[in-house]
Amino acid sequence: MKPLGLGILGSGKGSNCRAILESIRAGTLPAAARIVISDVFDAQILEIAREFSVSNVYLPPGQFRTRLDLEAETELVRMLRDAEVELVVLAGFMRVLKAPMLEAFPRQIINIHPSLLPTFPGLEAWKQALAAGETITGCTVHYVDEKIDHGDIIAQREVPILPNDSAETLHARIQIAEHELYPEVIAQLCGQRSSSPRSGF
Ligand code: GAR
Repeated sequence: MKPLGLGILGSGKGSNCRAILESIRAGTLPAAARIVISDVFDAQILEIAREFSVSNVYLPPGQFRTRLDLEAETELVRMLRDAEVELVVLAGFMRVLKAPMLEAFPRQIINIHPSLLPTFPGLEAWKQALAAGETITGCTVHYVDEKIDHGDIIAQREVPILPNDSAETLHARIQIAEHELYPEVIAQLCGQRSSSPRSGF
């Protein structure tokens, strides 16, 4: 079976990207990371890509703070297509994608978010869960649409909130769950592709 071509986008430390690359290396994820792209010049995710010998690119985002400008997003589509990416994996990518990406990769962009969506979209979701006095939170993998942290949910994993959790301890436990869930979900999508040639890929 031909491995599924992944393009991984991130703005930060890249621990989910590392979990995905480690799963590919371990042979548990039948995918190939074709390119890692960041909107942050010195993001650690680019360093991780280099560590795994994956092609990596800094994409200057343009003038806006929460999205790419049109030129940058058009360039992003071009880079992903040139790299023969079939599934776009957002791993801590902190900009909203717009029409150029959503139209170029319909139902082929997924995101991971540190809450049980639709509860607590947005920034620092684990702090929102703590402040709301929840006893359970978790993480969600979902298809990306035009709204922030929104779109059909593919899978979720629950994480209990312990009585003496701080924001840091809770986020660390959610990230452990993320690192298990994201490679598993991508592997599941690889399986769907091979059993249904007309799926989104
Ligand atoms: C992850 O916890 C991910 O769920 C979150 O950013 C973090 C990136 O960590 N994403 C969002 O909040 C999206 N709204 P990483 O760079 O170590 O993978």
